[in-house]
Amino acid sequence: MKLSIKNLSKTYSNGVQALNDINLEIGTGLFGLLGPNGAGKSTLMRTIATLQVPDTGSISLDGIDVINEKHELRKTLGYLPQEFGVYPGVTALSLMNHMATLKGITARGERKQIVEELLHRVNLWDFRKKAVSAYSGGMKQRFGIAQALLGQPKLIIVDEPTAGLDPSERNRFYNLLAEIGEQVVVILSTHIVQDVKQLCSDMAIINKGNLIYQGSPVNATEDLHGLIWEKVIEKHEMPQHEKEFQVISSKLVSGKPHIHIISEKNPGNGFTRIPADLEDVFFTKIMGVENLVPVLS
Ligand SMILES: Nc1ncnc2c1ncn2[C@@H]1O[C@H](COP(=O)(O)OP(=O)(O)O)[C@@H](O)[C@H]1O
Ligand SMILES: [Mg+2]
Repeated sequence: MKLSIKNLSKTYSNGVQALNDINLEIGTGLFGLLGPNGAGKSTLMRTIATLQVPDTGSISLDGIDVINEKHELRKTLGYLPQEFGVYPGVTALSLMNHMATLKGITARGERKQIVEELLHRVNLWDFRKKAVSAYSGGMKQRFGIAQALLGQPKLIIVDEPTAGLDPSERNRFYNLLAEIGEQVVVILSTHIVQDVKQLCSDMAIINKGNLIYQGSPVNATEDLHGLIWEKVIEKHEMPQHEKEFQVISSKLVSGKPHIHIISEKNPGNGFTRIPADLEDVFFTKIMGVENLVPVLS
């Protein structure tokens, strides 16, 4: 299985260019599409899911021309949109049954068996008679995966599935995603670096409609080898550090900012060199920092 995206562009009628000449080759397994809010992720996901058309470009999935053969693609697509609205009061069981029918699983016995199996798989069988609208965020997302798996799709798209989940719900969701077969193409779009770090062996970063990286998370962090430095500072020292160094991130730990900067040379000043992680990659790519070579000493 391979999804090929070529020269895909989209400008909305309000003038926003959401996608600018995107080229991507995506193989089987979990692929992470990482980008900040407004990057164009949902536009790309909806376009692959045949819910909107691009201005230019083509998409193919193993011989299916996605843009011109919508129905062919939909037969083999599982899609969990970013906004997953459900009618209030409808139970998980009846909603799954309904969606299975829409997917073309019309034989009653077969449908019953498939729905049952999927609800077990996402650990919602015990809650099948509860309204999906009353589910917790994590349960809703697991339901979303169950409906996306109907009809044994070869292409599964999940758009920002972990936003708003608490840490334990997020972990449960990770496990579920990790279990989905290696024989299918799974695209996970997210602004959360941790999602990609934990799950994906291949990834892309997009920002403002542009593809700014494609490769493995491991290679991406190796590219920054020797360039990332960390220091714990006081809050009031922040503005001065931002002036003096190329600060790529700051995180409060017990009330104190831990800052990461990127620098070819040893910046001195109490900084220590640290191994780069995927977050450093994400922020430096977003900032457009490129081609730095560390002076190793
Ligand atoms: N239907 C639309 N009409 C106009 N602008 C849109 C529409 N959908 C998205 N946009 C704009 O396109 C850009 C990309 O949006 P989106 O694809 O939702 O990004 P992401 O999912 O990465 O947050 C944003 O600037 C957004 O405001
Ligand atoms: Mg989005």
